[in-house]
Amino acid sequence: MLELPQQKARLRAYFDGIGFARWSAIYGDADLSLVRRSIRAGHQAMIAQAAAWLDTGLSGTTARSALDAGCGTGLFTIELARRNFCVRAVDLAPSMAAATAARIAEAGLSEQVQCSTADLEQLNERFAVVSCFDVLIHYPKADFARLCGHLASLADEVLLFTYAPYSPLLAALHRVGSFFPQGQRHTDIQMIPAKTVQQALAASGLRVRRSTPISRPFYHVTLVEAVKM
Ligand SMILES: C[S@@+](CC[C@H](N)C(=O)[O-])C[C@H]1O[C@@H](n2cnc3c(N)ncnc32)[C@H](O)[C@@H]1O
Repeated sequence: MLELPQQKARLRAYFDGIGFARWSAIYGDADLSLVRRSIRAGHQAMIAQAAAWLDTGLSGTTARSALDAGCGTGLFTIELARRNFCVRAVDLAPSMAAATAARIAEAGLSEQVQCSTADLEQLNERFAVVSCFDVLIHYPKADFARLCGHLASLADEVLLFTYAPYSPLLAALHRVGSFFPQGQRHTDIQMIPAKTVQQALAASGLRVRRSTPISRPFYHVTLVEAVKM
């Protein structure tokens, strides 16, 4: 297993190169294989659910600032901007941050959104809402608490994130998948037990207010909304 700085360097290179091509196709509307269509459908359902929670879960008293950490091509950044949040969108991969900036400019929302290339661990401002979708799934269990704790330290009101839940069946499928040649594999996904997630949140003074599994044949995450205890 790679150390955290090496893992970040690997993710940055992947999401700036072949991963950018793969994931921007999944996050776009091009024709896709069955497997990638399933991932797209799961991701769309996850973003729609998180956006629906935004509409029902905020006090309305705090400044509407938001951080989209690991924004990818900006599919949730735009949901935040359309809801009048003043958004900071960051991504480790320059191509991803640029794709978000382009999406936001096309929607005429650039005044509300600041996009940049950055590691989420470099940030130290605070935001009413912090979102971090399908990012922690790329980090091993050993780094989960630290990354989750850092995100929690940036969130004044709500932390929204996804993780890949541990299940013996998915773990077995994952082991089978690792026998395929590298080119046929999808990105390595790290499964985290729910208890590890709850412990990491509790250590940062947060609790789960809502959580729901989002499952499609090739997309399995748990979407979590965490708030102060
Ligand atoms: C699978 S994509 C998800 C994109 C977006 N959150 C979404 O759900 O549409 C994962 C993204 O996380 C970014 N990422 C990974 N580690 C990061 C870190 N430490 N800081 C910022 N971005 C990171 C990757 O570059 C990639 O764009």
